[in-house]
Amino acid sequence: EKTLPLAGQQVLITAGPTREAIDPVRYISNHSSGKMGYALAIQAQNLGAQVTLVSGPVALPEPLHVNTIQVSSALEMHQAVFAHVAAADIFIACAAVADYRLADIQTQKIKKSADEMTLSLIKNPDILADVAALPDGPFTVGFAAETQDLEYYAKDKLQRKGLNMIAANDVSNQDIGFNQADNALTVFSADAKIALPKQDKLALAEQLLKIVAKNVSANSL
Ligand code: PMT
Repeated sequence: EKTLPLAGQQVLITAGPTREAIDPVRYISNHSSGKMGYALAIQAQNLGAQVTLVSGPVALPEPLHVNTIQVSSALEMHQAVFAHVAAADIFIACAAVADYRLADIQTQKIKKSADEMTLSLIKNPDILADVAALPDGPFTVGFAAETQDLEYYAKDKLQRKGLNMIAANDVSNQDIGFNQADNALTVFSADAKIALPKQDKLALAEQLLKIVAKNVSANSL
C-alpha cells in the first residue's frame, strides 16, 4: 500500500474573507469566496492530512472530516489560528485578511447626517507573518494576491515574511482568482519557481499540496 503524500501531517489552513465591523449593521470586506481555501482543505484531507480550517464568512458547506472553525474578523482569525498553530506541521494562509480594521467600532447604528464622513482605520496583525516568526513554527505557505508585478511582490512577501513558499495569484485577470471556479498560480520558494496553469480550484489545490508535501519532506531531511 502506497502512503499518501500528507499522511501524518497536521495542516492548518485559513480561507475566505474577514469582516471588519463599522457598526452593528455594516462592515468592510472583500470578494474572497473561500473556494480556494476550502479546495485546499478538502484535498489536504484526501492526501492523508489531519486538517483544521479557520474560515471567514463564506457560503460554502463545511468539508467532511475537516475541523472547521468559523470566524468573522481578522482579530478572531488571528486568535483561532494561534489556538491551533502549536499542533500544526504546515500552515497555509489562503484567507484574504483585511489589512485594516476600524479604530472604533460604533455600538449603535451610525445615523445619516453630514454629506461627508471619514472612517479611521488601524492595521490588523499579519497572521501569516506572526506564524512564520514563531520559533519551531510550521512550514509556511502564503498566498500573494496581486494586480501588478506579480513575481516582484510575491518574492518580496516570501522574503519579508520569512516564508517557506508563496503562491502568487494574478487577481487582475477576472477569469481566475476571487470568486471564480478556476485559478492559476505561480509558486515560489527560495530556490524554485513553478507555474501551475489555469484549472479548477480543486485540481489546482491538489497540485499545490503535492509541491508542499515534497518541500516539507526535503526540509526535514
Ligand atoms: O476565496 P476565493 O474566492 O477562492 O479566492 C482565492 C484568493 C484569491 C482569495 C486566494 O487565492 C488568495 O490569493 N488569497 C490571499 C489573498 C490576500 O489577502 O493576499 P495578500 O497578498 O493581501 O496577503 C498575503 C498573505 O498574507 C496571504 O497569505 C494572506 O492570507 C496573509 N495575510 C495577510 C494579511 C493579514 N493581516 N494576515 C495574513 O495572514
